[in-house]
Amino acid sequence: MSRLWGGRFSREPSALMQQFNDSISFDVRLWDADIRGSIAYARALARAGLLTRREVSTLVRGLKQIHAEFAQGTFTVKPGDEDIHTAVERRLRELVGEVAGKLHTGRSRNDQVATDVRLFALDAIRELSDLLAEVQSALLAQAEQHVETLMPGYTHLQRAQPITFAHWCLSHFWALERDKDRLRDCARRTAVLPLGSGALAGNPFSIARRALARALGFAAISENSLDAVSDRDFIAELLFTCALIGVHLSRLAEDLVIYASAEFGFVTFDDAYATGSSLMPQKKNPDAMELTRGKSGRLIGNLVTVLTLLKGLPTAYNKDLQEDKPPLFDSLDTLRLTLPVVAGALRTLRVNAERMRAALDPAMLATDVAEYLVRKGVPFREAHHLTGRAVALAEQRGVGLHQLSLDDWRALSPHFDEDIATVFDFARSVAMRNVEGGTAPEAVRKQIRAAQRALKLRSRRTPPATSPPPAAS
Ligand code: ARG
Repeated sequence: MSRLWGGRFSREPSALMQQFNDSISFDVRLWDADIRGSIAYARALARAGLLTRREVSTLVRGLKQIHAEFAQGTFTVKPGDEDIHTAVERRLRELVGEVAGKLHTGRSRNDQVATDVRLFALDAIRELSDLLAEVQSALLAQAEQHVETLMPGYTHLQRAQPITFAHWCLSHFWALERDKDRLRDCARRTAVLPLGSGALAGNPFSIARRALARALGFAAISENSLDAVSDRDFIAELLFTCALIGVHLSRLAEDLVIYASAEFGFVTFDDAYATGSSLMPQKKNPDAMELTRGKSGRLIGNLVTVLTLLKGLPTAYNKDLQEDKPPLFDSLDTLRLTLPVVAGALRTLRVNAERMRAALDPAMLATDVAEYLVRKGVPFREAHHLTGRAVALAEQRGVGLHQLSLDDWRALSPHFDEDIATVFDFARSVAMRNVEGGTAPEAVRKQIRAAQRALKLRSRRTPPATSPPPAAS
C-alpha cells in the first residue's frame, strides 16, 4: 500500500495507529467539496502553466468520474485511504495514471481540508436557513389563525397578563429570525478561501487565488497563510448558531410540553407527532418536544468540544484539527432532523382556544385596574398600591377581584367609579396593548405582516450557492 507521505518512512504505521489516525470514516462526507476544490485547483495549476491543457482535461475528467462514483454510491474506500483527500487522489491515480501526482503541486492537505470544510459549511448554512424558515412559516400559519385567541401570558410561570396565542407564536418566530441572520453572518466569514496557503507558508507557484475563489464561489481570499490553515472560527461560529437554535427550539418545546399537559390542555399534538407508553395505555406523550429539548444538550456540547479543541493549539495546522468534523457533522445532522420535526408538530398542532380562555383569571387584570386609576390621574405607584389592597381584600373575602362591590372599590379610593366594571374584560385588556410589538390583535396583524415580509426577504438574501456542480465546466 503506497502512502502519500511514505517516502521518508521505512515501516508502515501499526494497525492501531492507522485506526487512530484515519478520518475517512467521517470525512468521506466531504467528497463533493473535495472534488469541486480539486477541479478548481487543477484549472488554477493549468493557468499558472504547471499543467498542459491535456493534463488538466485528463485530471478533470478523472475527478468528474470519481464525483459520479460517489454520487452513485459505487466508490469504494480502500485500506490506506486515510481521509477523503487521500482517497480521491488514490482513485484518481487508478483512473488517469501518473499525471494524478501533479494535482497536489503546491497544495497541502492543510489548505485543502480548510477549503473543503468551508465549502461544506456554506452548503449546510443554506440548508439550515431553509429548514429554519419552515419552522417559522409553521409558527406564522398558527399565528394567522389565532390573532384573537386569548390565553394567559406567564412570567415566572405564574399567570401574569392576558395575551393572544398569535403573539406567543410570533415570539418564537423572531428568535429564529435572528438565528437566520446569524447564519448569514456566519456565511460571510466562511466564504473566505484558504486554498493557496499551502502547508503554512503559501503557494510558490503563482496560483491566481482570487480567480480560484471566484470559481469556487468564495467572496474573498484569506490574508495570511498561517491563519488560513489554522482558522476554524467559522466552525465555532456555526456550532454556536446551531447551539443557540437548539436553545430556542428547546424553550419553544418546553412551553408546548407544559401546554399539552392535562392540567393546561391548551394544545394537543397530532398523533403523528406523539408517542405512547409501553405500560400505561392512556398515555400520549409529547416526545417530539422532549427530544427537541434534549437534543439541545448535544448541540451545546459540540460547540464546547470545538472551542476546547482550538484553545491552546500552536500556530498553523495541528492534527487536533481533524477532530473538528465529527461535532460539526453531528450538529448539522441533529438540526436536519429536529427542525422538520418541530415544523411538522407545529403545523399539525391543535389549539384548544376554550381551554386557554378558561385559564384566564380576573386577577390577571389587576394591572389594568391600576392603569384605570392612572387614567384618572393617580400616580402609578399609588395606583399599584391601591390595587394591591383590592387584591388582598378580594382574597380575604374569597371572591374574584371582579366581584368586589362598588362600595368596596370606593372605600379604597374615591377615584373608582361604576365604569371599573368595564376593566374586567380580557379582550379589552389585550386590545389596549396596541403599541407596536404589543399583543393587541391590531398590533399583531402588523407583526404578522412584518413576519411575512421577513420570510419573503429571506429567500432573496440566502447565502449564495457555492459553485456550479462539477459537471458544468
Ligand atoms: N484528515 C486531516 C484533517 O481532517 C487532513 C489534513 C491532514 N494534514 C496533515 N498535515 N496531516 O484535518
